Amino acid sequence: MKICVLYGTETGNAEMLADDIETALSDDHQVDCANLCDVDPADLGKETFHVIVCSTYGDGELPESARPFAQSLEQNRPDLSGISFAVFGLGDAEYAETFTHGSIRLADLLKACGATQIGERMTHDASGDDMPEDLALPWITEVLATFSEQSKEV
Ligand SMILES: Cc1cc2nc3c(=O)[nH]c(=O)nc-3n(C[C@H](O)[C@H](O)[C@H](O)COP(=O)(O)O)c2cc1C
Repeated sequence: MKICVLYGTETGNAEMLADDIETALSDDHQVDCANLCDVDPADLGKETFHVIVCSTYGDGELPESARPFAQSLEQNRPDLSGISFAVFGLGDAEYAETFTHGSIRLADLLKACGATQIGERMTHDASGDDMPEDLALPWITEVLATFSEQSKEV
């Protein structure tokens, strides 16, 4: 499967996790990884499965590197029907009212443009005991299995 791991970050945690996901999936899939600031939403491909890894900043805002991508979704409303994605949110539960809201915002914008979210959104709490990759790797394996099943049914 062609997979593109896209990350939105401010201090690098999402990038490190995106790299871990890329490495873990590379044996079985054709995987690319990119910063959201380098991606135009209109260029997302239907033949590629997108894994979005995004943190949260400010008061539930998107991190710096995800903002141009989100702005383009909002302003240009590209037709993303046929585009599939999964989303992993990095945050800190100390920010109780805005925990991982950046990833929610991004998923909502993609869906508003017609993209399809596969699986449940997974989150990582920087104040918790788990390492992000320990949550993300089993999660993405399950998401990809779900996506393969759904693709067979179509
Ligand atoms: C100034 C600041 C504001 C933050 N605001 C939020 C927030 O509103 N909600 C949340 O869930 N996490 C918040 N976080 C936590 C980050 O999302 C978390 O540390 C994440 O792992 C950072 O990932 P990154 O290095 O990829 O940007 C904030 C962190 C900082 C330093």
